[in-house]
Amino acid sequence: MPIRAARIIGTGSYLPEQILSNAELASRLDTTDEWIRSRTGISERRIAAPGEYTSDLACNAAQQALQMAGITADSLDFILVATTTPDLVFPATAVRVQRKLGATKRQMPACDVQAVCAGFIYALSIGDSLIRSGSAQRVLVIGAETMSRAIDWQDRATCILFGDGAGAAILEATTESDHAILSTHLYADGQYEDLLRTPGGISHGLLLDPSSGSGLLHMRGNEVFKQAVKALEEVVDQTLAANGLDKAQIDWLVPHQANIRIIQSTAKRLGMTMDRVVLTVNRHGNTSAASVPLALDEAVRDGRIQPGQLLLLEAFGGGFTWGSALLRW
Ligand SMILES: CC(C)(COP(=O)(O)OP(=O)(O)OC[C@H]1O[C@@H](n2cnc3c(N)ncnc32)[C@H](O)[C@@H]1OP(=O)(O)O)[C@@H](O)C(=O)NCCC(=O)NCCS
Repeated sequence: MPIRAARIIGTGSYLPEQILSNAELASRLDTTDEWIRSRTGISERRIAAPGEYTSDLACNAAQQALQMAGITADSLDFILVATTTPDLVFPATAVRVQRKLGATKRQMPACDVQAVCAGFIYALSIGDSLIRSGSAQRVLVIGAETMSRAIDWQDRATCILFGDGAGAAILEATTESDHAILSTHLYADGQYEDLLRTPGGISHGLLLDPSSGSGLLHMRGNEVFKQAVKALEEVVDQTLAANGLDKAQIDWLVPHQANIRIIQSTAKRLGMTMDRVVLTVNRHGNTSAASVPLALDEAVRDGRIQPGQLLLLEAFGGGFTWGSALLRW
């Protein structure tokens, strides 16, 4: 019997209109464009408009992906939204996306996946499993964030890093396992929570309050940096070994876009020159769960990614959570 696998049949992305440049940040904080660019690679990021929510960003990205795939929302079997910045505590952002897409089929489970910056890789892996197990034929996987609402705009060490956006991919069952997701690897280690977290939350009785700064994102950036580099080096080695591949066989690295220096160190581990790495961090900043699908969509649409090529997607985020997905386009 042919092996059942999941392939991507459409991608999409959405960025809010408002661009926030380093120069604008430098006009209100003790920072400079030069510091931000040299430490992070970021020049600008997008900020969602008032009244524009994570589900709106997600829905716009999903519509593009549906259009590329040439299918309607009602033909989906499952919606997964990876997000750390949901519209509401509940219902899940994914259910709001289902409604906003105009999908009326009720046999379409929809839920959120919370694995911070690794969220899209987690959701992609779950979608892949749903398809491989025969539970679904088509799964919409979205990474969408309004990180600008979870950060302290007075904290120069974190607010310069993040941006808003959404990316989407539609998975479909295939028996052509050559043009499919070949493997996913997921990891978590909860002992580093203090290095990166938002202390706000319902169970803690403390909600995010941008006016007082309470409950907003806290990060010990330097320590997170070291852990991210180490975990990502390990995960790329594990992915190659599990698939019996040599690093020279990877055509494209599609990394989480947190910091250009983290990306450069992963590329170095893979012996890749930066022209084989899809980079958006300079224009998007860190869009958390949205960064990998945003980068993927950009390189698919501009023709860099071609059928038959081998893609390595990876991400690392709060938790810590991290992981990879290897796919043949
Ligand atoms: C945040 C990050 C860019 C900071 O760069 P860094 O080289 O580690 O810098 P440090 O935190 O060691 O700070 C160095 C100095 O710069 C200062 N600084 C911090 N933010 C600054 C800013 N925006 N402008 C100017 N100076 C700044 C610090 O106060 C510190 O000053 P001090 O030496 O007088 O104490 C970097 O650590 C990083 O990217 N970390 C990983 C982030 C990440 O990936 N997070 C998400 C995971 S998904």
